Amino acid sequence: MKEYKAFQLLQQHYLDTHKTTLVELFHQNPERGTQFSLQHKELFFDFSKNKITDKTLELLIDLASQSNLLDNIEAMFSGQKINNTESKAVLHTALRSYEQKIMLDGHNVCDDIQYVLNKMKAFSERLHNGEHKGYSGKHIADIVNIGIGGSDLGPVLACTALKPYCNSGLKVHFISSIDGYQIKDTLSGLNPETTLFIIASKTFTTQETITNANTARKWFLDYAKDTRYIKHHFVAVSTNADAVAAFGIDPNNMFEFWDFVGGRYSMFSAIGLSIILYIGFDNFKQMLDGANEMDKHYRDTTNLRQNIPVVLALIGIWYNNFYGYTTNIISPYNTRLTKFPSYVQQLEMESNGKSVDKDGKSLEYKTCPVIWGDSAINGQHAYYQLLHQGTSINPMDIIVSLSDKFSNKEHNDILIANAIAQAEAFMCGRSVTAAKKELLNLGCNEANSGFLSKHKSFTGNRPSNMLMLPEISPYYLGMLIALYEHKTFTQGVIWGVNSFDQMGVELGKQLAKNIYNDITSNDINNDDITGDELLKHDSSTNNLIKRYLKRNT
Ligand code: F6P
Repeated sequence: MKEYKAFQLLQQHYLDTHKTTLVELFHQNPERGTQFSLQHKELFFDFSKNKITDKTLELLIDLASQSNLLDNIEAMFSGQKINNTESKAVLHTALRSYEQKIMLDGHNVCDDIQYVLNKMKAFSERLHNGEHKGYSGKHIADIVNIGIGGSDLGPVLACTALKPYCNSGLKVHFISSIDGYQIKDTLSGLNPETTLFIIASKTFTTQETITNANTARKWFLDYAKDTRYIKHHFVAVSTNADAVAAFGIDPNNMFEFWDFVGGRYSMFSAIGLSIILYIGFDNFKQMLDGANEMDKHYRDTTNLRQNIPVVLALIGIWYNNFYGYTTNIISPYNTRLTKFPSYVQQLEMESNGKSVDKDGKSLEYKTCPVIWGDSAINGQHAYYQLLHQGTSINPMDIIVSLSDKFSNKEHNDILIANAIAQAEAFMCGRSVTAAKKELLNLGCNEANSGFLSKHKSFTGNRPSNMLMLPEISPYYLGMLIALYEHKTFTQGVIWGVNSFDQMGVELGKQLAKNIYNDITSNDINNDDITGDELLKHDSSTNNLIKRYLKRNT
């Protein structure tokens, strides 16, 4: 990125402009509120409360153009193997496409996608109408999705956000963690005769998922006593048919997806099976349609100034690489979107948390900021203090739903008022003079007003984006997710990284296996755990292992 002419121009532009405050920008251009906003369908994006001018955007768009963004977008959508470290195409957009033909290695992937969609639809119908029953003839009442990362976060997000759309009468549960408590607690409330497990794992080798799946299988068989009943209660979602068969799941009960769908981009594939069972196939199809609408917008809007994911991505790059801000907060003002920050966290941080470029060259600039957040209204009563008055500046994406037929108007009015007010407060702040005046008006004496006004003042000038959805429906949730997927890709292209591998998660997994072997090895005698077995670790790691062994042997 540093070699692009626009990068150097942006560095200079930053030096020239960064002292201008947001409030000054609004004074210079009172029309900012409308000029720096975009809309697609009913998704509205106000990015006016950012430290940007037309010139900034122009230069950022030059940066995107110099990184060949449009060619890269086309390469992704058309199935080129842009995941260069793993020689894989990246075709999560094909999952929601209306195109009849997308060729990959001489094969039309649309046929496979349609086949699996039809299979999921038929399965959900059989489950909903009671044709697919538990082994004892009872209707399935509970779905348990066992998966982690991309095989969990998307379904959790959708099932939480779209709970009011649940028309199946089914309950859905998610088990992701390896701690024994989660699975014990979940299963304790369930009846093996009426529970269906979805084992969701792209690789079908993930330790947490396979361990939990084995525990669930044992729980089931302890009750049902006969392995022939497994097929009524266990289905798998994976790319690894052999491992699924080895686990003992009937291949007919496997819903396939493919290497061209990355784990964190997989919720619209068969990984969405729990969503389909919960909210029904038609609602899931609405999600696909919403995502597809955003895909079309992203791919077809070649005037990048009008392209919502691109503008969102460019603003992030401006703060990350020129202002040096190190985090980006996702603040949903709706409980139903509480899981959205975690979803975006994996999406962006696992995709772009890289320090070498696609060719393996070390990068001399920062890539992905820390993405974090939670239910915003709760955040207001917890960490917003730092966001308003702390010493760091943390740009925020505020997400609201304009209406919520499942909520009530009074509550929604208060919620939206808070969201809009926070954005205003972050931007405008309050001067020491204004704070003092207010204190004097309240009857505070001169000395106290002078003292307290310093504590009660806000520098302001803290940027935020506002994304307004008309409602949290399957369609707009699909759109929102695709918007962040494309933001992530855009930033990855500009930073020059491969956004579709995740090799940084491997080392910890390997070391955990070694340490597990140390912990479970029969050779290690509790009285002699200072032995050679542990010398391969550093003294801290050895001490920690010993401490655990002392307590547990
Ligand atoms: O360890 C990281 C990761 O590979 C993620 O990329 C993925 O979403 C998650 O683990 C789960 O992987 P799988 O679906 O193969 O079980």
